[in-house]
Amino acid sequence: MNQNDASKTAPQPAANDPGAPISHDPPISHDPIDSRVRAVMAAARHHGVDLDRADLRLAPGEPASPARLSGWVRESGLWARAVRLNWRQLLGIHAGAPVVLLLQDGSAALLLGVNAGRGVVFLKDPHAAPGDEAVPVDELRLAQVWSGEALLIRRARGAGEAEAPFSFGWIAAMVLRERAALRDIGIASIALSILTIIPPLLVMVVIDRVLQHRSMSTLILLSTILLVGVAYETVLGYARRELTQVVAARLDAKLNLHLFNRVLALPLDYYERSTAGEITYRISQIWKIRDFLTGKLLSTFLDFFTMAVLLPFLFYMSAALSWMVLAASGLIALVIFAFLPPMRRAVARVVAAETAKSTVLIESVHGIRTVKSLAMEPVQKDIWDLRVADAGQARLAAGRLANWPATIVTPLEGFIQRGVLLVGAYMALTGVGGVQVGALIAFMMLGMRVAQPLIGLARLIEDLEQVRAAVNDVASVINNPNETRAATSGLRPKFAGAISFENLTFSYPGTKAPALDRVSFSIPPGTMLGLVGRSGSGKSTITRLLQGINREYDGFLKIDGAELREINLMHLRRGFGVVLQDNFLFRGTIRDNILAGRPGLTLEDAVRAARLAGAEEFIERMPQGYETFIQEGSPNLSGGQKQRLAIARALINDPRILILDEATSALDPESEALVNANLQRIARGRTMVIVSHRLSSLTECDMTVVLDKGCVMDVGPHRELVERCPIYRQLWLQQNRHMEGQGQRPAILGPALAQGD
Ligand SMILES: Nc1ncnc2c1ncn2[C@@H]1O[C@H](COP(=O)(O)OP(=O)(O)OP(=O)(O)O)[C@@H](O)[C@H]1O
Ligand SMILES: [Mg+2]
Repeated sequence: MNQNDASKTAPQPAANDPGAPISHDPPISHDPIDSRVRAVMAAARHHGVDLDRADLRLAPGEPASPARLSGWVRESGLWARAVRLNWRQLLGIHAGAPVVLLLQDGSAALLLGVNAGRGVVFLKDPHAAPGDEAVPVDELRLAQVWSGEALLIRRARGAGEAEAPFSFGWIAAMVLRERAALRDIGIASIALSILTIIPPLLVMVVIDRVLQHRSMSTLILLSTILLVGVAYETVLGYARRELTQVVAARLDAKLNLHLFNRVLALPLDYYERSTAGEITYRISQIWKIRDFLTGKLLSTFLDFFTMAVLLPFLFYMSAALSWMVLAASGLIALVIFAFLPPMRRAVARVVAAETAKSTVLIESVHGIRTVKSLAMEPVQKDIWDLRVADAGQARLAAGRLANWPATIVTPLEGFIQRGVLLVGAYMALTGVGGVQVGALIAFMMLGMRVAQPLIGLARLIEDLEQVRAAVNDVASVINNPNETRAATSGLRPKFAGAISFENLTFSYPGTKAPALDRVSFSIPPGTMLGLVGRSGSGKSTITRLLQGINREYDGFLKIDGAELREINLMHLRRGFGVVLQDNFLFRGTIRDNILAGRPGLTLEDAVRAARLAGAEEFIERMPQGYETFIQEGSPNLSGGQKQRLAIARALINDPRILILDEATSALDPESEALVNANLQRIARGRTMVIVSHRLSSLTECDMTVVLDKGCVMDVGPHRELVERCPIYRQLWLQQNRHMEGQGQRPAILGPALAQGD
């Protein structure tokens, strides 16, 4: 019925065609996956985010599942969720932003608006031209094509959570987001608190009534109540612990995910400015925050419910005794508060000493090669001894200080536990305040449960100091400016490989002399560019700027005419291949190392890259070929083999621009010749930027830039530079003096150079 009404009220004729929502132009049949990808990209663009197809990482033949698509969107910092909706819910959607409807045939449509009154939704084919109108579709027609699944995409709440500085406020917001679970835990706790009142009350009744009046029937009744109470308590206790575990696990996971995202988003130059030991130690402090959130904080919070419930009962049993308990608890809290400021200072000293100590440990482990080869063990041991002593002293001092409040409050706690009993007994004997023996015992059973939260609160504040230090530690790392914005926004041009520096000046933070001083040169796509100059002349700096590692420069650095800072950082780095002097190989097989986690690539790709890099020959001689396992630090590979693997890894996704920074400097002449012999082949179809101290390996470059103290001294091919550039000629002669009189012909690249000559 309803459906017919809806189709009647739909005024536009287009809605009469069931295929209208997707097959706007039926003759062209589109790839359904492409349709989904386009729809999602359009929806994300609505929120100002340009998604990159390459990030979707679909294996060939894999369908674009809702989970995959939403994961793809989330990576870009947007909020996304795959949901199942019915027609009514669809009409209820506030369609301020496009919603992606996943259709049965594997394609998608964009929902751009709803008209609940007319019972239609407005859909658009992702392949439709930008100017095309959305088509109104009613329930019946939609049901024929729609699977019921939709992808909701929104700007992440307050863009905030992922980007907001890490602080107590951030943590509180994260905890509060669990408020549904926290509320349930609270309810369970209140119920449990009420149940805990039953046993003392029963004891009171047993003593005051049953024993005095010898009433068997009352005893049976009481026993039944007690049993029921125990049953409830068991179940509720189970539920509360279960909920608490779930919340704790969720908070822990959230904290860790956030932490790692932020750690990865920090720019490289941050890591260069700080020691690995310090960063690792500071980040690892997160466990203190987690333990606090999921342990003490939660249990104190729960104890407070208990107190709120019990207090009225205590007053009901005896107001005078209740006041005494409260006063003693208040005194305890006061003592602990009084010790807070000195405790805070003592804890700060412990934290500082511990940081210094663990820095030594972590750095010794990281740099163990250097430590051993320089026989630095005794030196490191001495430093360690000092740091251990410092940390021990700081801990002892803090412990001694903490011993004072603990000692002072012991008599007060004793008073709550036993003193009140004496006072109560006196009152019962003399009849003051109308306290009976049963009530007194009941009071004793509950009194401590009221005092505990108060004392717990004071202790909590003590812990808070430690946690505050931990929050500061973690924040001092992850709150540094990061690359997230640059990595999720910006242009994604297709690179051809033209590079131009225009009057570019750059200084490293904290240094005065510029590392690059008004550098200008430009090269067309496909150029093989050499960079030479003395040590410290700025060669590596140029390659770093190209990769977007340092971005605070004056002037322009353009790639294919687009300013580098406008280009999406991830896209930029994917377009580049980089090989350094010392390359880190991951623990894993040779194949894994070449593919480096890039999805959709297969062994064939690895073999192709290895062949191009000249690595094939040695890989095939390995016992397990491409499946040979490489250990951390790759001790089972020679320097030359490692380097060729690194080149294969850089070539795997066929980068338009390949940077080799001293890639062959550490190699023996034979390995170097092997790599160099492949360079011409590698260079085909891409721009190469080669930094090398050995000019002989740059003679074949189309163009060589000579740097000195950050300035460009000359630009030109080898033969011209030898003629006219004094620095170049000097470097050349230094390295090839032995060949003077032999026609200045270096031996290493013999044949190729001979042809060029
Ligand atoms: N991370 C950094 N922080 C501060 N200054 C730096 C940093 N890296 C390099 N520099 C300085 O910038 C200048 C250029 O360094 P760069 O690494 O570009 O030289 P280079 O030509 O590659 O030298 P080499 O041939 O020794 O590798 C040097 O004076 C160096 O001290
Ligand atoms: Mg360098």
